[in-house]
Amino acid sequence: MASIVTCIAPVNIAVIKYWGKKDEKLIIPLNDSLSGTLSMDQMHAKTTIMASPNFTKNCIWLNGKEETFDNIRLLACLKEIKRRAQEDGTSKELLSWNIHVCSENNFPTAAGLASSAAGYACFVFALAKLYKVKGDVSQIARQGSGSACRSLEGGFVRWHMGKSSDGSDSLATQVVPASHWPEMHVIILVVNDKKKKVSSTSGMQRSVETSDLLKHRVAYCVPKRIVDIEKAIKSKDFPTFAEITMKDSNQFHAVALDTFPPAVYMNDVSHSIVDLIHCFNKVKGCTKVAYTFDAGPNACLYLLEPTVAETMAVVDYFFPSSNSKNTVQGLPVPPCNA
Ligand code: DP6
Repeated sequence: MASIVTCIAPVNIAVIKYWGKKDEKLIIPLNDSLSGTLSMDQMHAKTTIMASPNFTKNCIWLNGKEETFDNIRLLACLKEIKRRAQEDGTSKELLSWNIHVCSENNFPTAAGLASSAAGYACFVFALAKLYKVKGDVSQIARQGSGSACRSLEGGFVRWHMGKSSDGSDSLATQVVPASHWPEMHVIILVVNDKKKKVSSTSGMQRSVETSDLLKHRVAYCVPKRIVDIEKAIKSKDFPTFAEITMKDSNQFHAVALDTFPPAVYMNDVSHSIVDLIHCFNKVKGCTKVAYTFDAGPNACLYLLEPTVAETMAVVDYFFPSSNSKNTVQGLPVPPCNA
């Protein structure tokens, strides 16, 4: 007799970036961040977890390849879920069995496309289902990969850095559901799907140690931007939303360059996409499209439904080789059972 669950979880794309931790172990961020959750039809992580009295050890397969189960973040999530499960009265027998985990992304891993966010959100959500853990698990997903906590809700989601040193109030909450702004779309332009040279984890650690611009960003820029973008989202003010999104992406990459040695994530194609979007908005006479780049060269465009066809045509004309994915933003309650 064994117990098995399969879940899928979405990708989220930050419009106010998380970059820098005040606690490396607990993954408590230096600033609040805010993201849109994408629908799961094009990009998602899928995880199956089986617990059995016959398993002699814990095992994990990531995208078909067996990995060791000694990853400190993986173990932290498992330990924390089991602690909560015990509190919730889950059977001791089930909790004593070893698990086998099989996880897959249907998009490039570690290319700056939020794969760890979807992966850890899915892992923690599936564990919570397996062990019947109730309530918020975003503070557990956060300990797998910071940005993962934002993939546990749909729509626009804010990760509050919190005040407590144990991280208990560093969790993600929904700002608005996807149904609030159903016209919102995200186009992902895959410029390069190779694994990035500097991981987000080590890049941001280096920024915390060396970048003066990061201190300025955290103290003066992000707090105001978070308030303003939340207001813009709630009132569906696209030009304000777009301007803040683009400025925050630009500042995040400026911080990456201010890091010593610098972390270079965008390439020439990424910069040409930035130019193209500014040009497009200028020709249109108002801001119709916003770009944002995570720790990689791939562009994420936020735009409203009436602009999608024209933008796709313009992108295909200027960047015929970029593999673009058009995905609507959000599903009501991701992640979910598969
Ligand atoms: C640029 O969540 O991958 O995508 O917490 O060390 O696992 P760790 O980092 P991670 O960093 C994501 C950084 C980002 C911005 C964001 O998603 O907010």
